[in-house]
Amino acid sequence: MDSIAVFGLGFVGLPLSLTYAMYGVRVYGVDINKEYVERLKNYQTHILENYNGKTIQEILKESIQKGLFIPTTSAKEALENTDKIIVTVGIPIKNGVLQKEVFNAAIKSIGKYLKKGDLVLIRSTVPPGTTREIVLPILEKESGLKCSKDFYLAYSSERIAEGKAFEEFQTMPVAVAGIDKESRKKAYELLNIINKEIVLASEPEVVELSKLIENSSRDVNIALSNELAELTEKLNINATEVIKVANTHKRVHLLRPGIGVGGHCIPYSSLYIFDKTDKMKLPMTLLHTAREINENRPKEVLRTIETALNRRNRKIEHSKFAIIGVAMKNNSSDISESPAMRLKDIILQNGGDVSWFDPNINGNFPLRKYSIEETLKGADVIIIPIKQDNIKIDIDQWKEFAQKNAIIFDAQRVINKDEAEKLGFVYLSI
Ligand SMILES: NC(=O)c1ccc[n+]([C@@H]2O[C@H](COP(=O)([O-])OP(=O)(O)OC[C@H]3O[C@@H](n4cnc5c(N)ncnc54)[C@H](O)[C@@H]3O)[C@@H](O)[C@H]2O)c1
Repeated sequence: MDSIAVFGLGFVGLPLSLTYAMYGVRVYGVDINKEYVERLKNYQTHILENYNGKTIQEILKESIQKGLFIPTTSAKEALENTDKIIVTVGIPIKNGVLQKEVFNAAIKSIGKYLKKGDLVLIRSTVPPGTTREIVLPILEKESGLKCSKDFYLAYSSERIAEGKAFEEFQTMPVAVAGIDKESRKKAYELLNIINKEIVLASEPEVVELSKLIENSSRDVNIALSNELAELTEKLNINATEVIKVANTHKRVHLLRPGIGVGGHCIPYSSLYIFDKTDKMKLPMTLLHTAREINENRPKEVLRTIETALNRRNRKIEHSKFAIIGVAMKNNSSDISESPAMRLKDIILQNGGDVSWFDPNINGNFPLRKYSIEETLKGADVIIIPIKQDNIKIDIDQWKEFAQKNAIIFDAQRVINKDEAEKLGFVYLSI
């Protein structure tokens, strides 16, 4: 295998390209974001991954210097140099509407330069039927070639978790199906370079939908834990402990409750399913309910905090909130669909003041502070939605900056309740 092309160099596409590069494959990495491609050429990326003691920036530098990774904005350049194309461009969602044109534009750019014998392997998460009903006709129309005769098309879902990408590209079993047997065989060989556990499926729709239901099953599971958390709050018992005890049953595996579900993977998967089922008028009640419960979580969390504030004759209005860690999940640099950011917006809508701190997030944002001290200054409420290992939790020091008897809402249970109360904080958790 001499070279491949990877379209989309985001949280999936960049580490995937660099994993192939580690196996000696030359990768043409294509992204439409010119400024980002320039930054990549200078060994810079916002992505936080590491492997075998090296940061992704170090791996990026090594791969470029060895000529094994070539970032480019040119689909033409990439397709002239390879016959194997992997797509990792996603379908963003804006105000609940799928931006399919983003994904389709990537497919069109591939179709324009597609040659006889090429393989296109879709790895993006997509509504069921996309490979056959959307990708195939676009590629045929743009190229004038015929699928299964002139070129090959397959789908393999991507299952990595951010932060573990390099490891999981190699160790997480992957499922693959082709439009025809030859497409699946060629896709298998491409995947097999870096991954040895490959599950063969009969058709792309099976793998597309299995990916979505994998994510949605987590949405439902977390919604159940979040609903439990609402009950345990009323019963004044500890949800985390209830779950820990329940999970000692060998066939029970409840996930952790929290302040909501963030990122693209889990929330978007059900929306991709609804894209299909709405047209069929299928209600999908359970998935809708899970979405609703998890979407409402930041509101529920604020209601819990409000009750504690009211007990101290305070209101959300004019109270100062400090949010420590705003990424969409623990140890992430991604704020997509972050529940902490939604909580911030709801606090603002209710008249509260907010400051937030998260050293993993790139960019300038309103209300962002660059030190814990500044963030906690005069805080009536301290919220810890997620855990970032590079944020030092030192409540002994925090009490110097926050209001006396400030409320701590510790969604991650990173603080010892007795210690917090001894220091005068009001401690709340899930
Ligand atoms: N992030 C994850 O952990 C994860 C895990 C599993 C699956 N997925 C799925 O993988 C896909 C990619 O996710 P991501 O997190 O890497 O997204 P991302 O937003 O980080 O990256 C997408 C990249 O595609 C580029 N792009 C957009 N249009 C393009 C075009 N026409 N040509 C070339 N590049 C183009 C963007 O500039 C961006 O850099 C999505 O379908 C997502 O649902 C993501």
